[in-house]
Amino acid sequence: MTQDELKALVARAAIEHLVPGALVGVGTGSTVNHFIDALAAIKDRIAGAVSSSVQSSERLRRHGIPVIEAAELSAPLPVYVDGADEIDHHGYMIKGGGAALTREKIVADLAERFVCIADESKLVDTLGRFPLPVEVIPMAAPQIVRRFEKLGATATLRPGVITDNGQPILDVRGLKITDPLALETEINQWPGVVTVGIFARHKASLCLLGTAAGVRTLQF
Ligand code: A5P
Repeated sequence: MTQDELKALVARAAIEHLVPGALVGVGTGSTVNHFIDALAAIKDRIAGAVSSSVQSSERLRRHGIPVIEAAELSAPLPVYVDGADEIDHHGYMIKGGGAALTREKIVADLAERFVCIADESKLVDTLGRFPLPVEVIPMAAPQIVRRFEKLGATATLRPGVITDNGQPILDVRGLKITDPLALETEINQWPGVVTVGIFARHKASLCLLGTAAGVRTLQF
């Protein structure tokens, strides 16, 4: 199976983890695009979606799936479904390769469970091979770059990318993230950091991993 077929496989499998009649939190990316397409077939069985990006909202609406603003929610979402750039054996993730990390973390925070859908190439022993995305306030960017240098890493602005929130993204290379919770906490405290793409406080509850042998379910 191709990588794209594996993404479609886990996207379809995620439908089984939704709560009938409830809203569903929807992430962003190529795997989630397959999930949105699968959601279209059962749209009468959900109340609608809370989306993490303009891109996902547009795709949901094209399928006739109602999109509800996150700020309008009065109760938690039972489930949030999203992809990952890397996921480890504890359910900790790197996200933000598609620049949607801030809204993804906001919607994940509104949900009781995070169902990660990913092809098997995303599973790693230690996070950090994928460049860590960090959304920042522009005037703080040079100081944040220097802070990463002190950690032995190199941070560069992602060319031509501005997020849905109007901010740039730094991609950080050379980090070996052995303690995701501690590093997320530290980076969160740096002035000018909007969101760091380590999802440790908002880790996956389970991961549907697409493999050549089928869907492997990892519980965390
Ligand atoms: C979007 O900003 C990301 O967090 C995506 O969820 C992540 O990059 C996974 O994307 P793919 O499903 O396209 O691999």
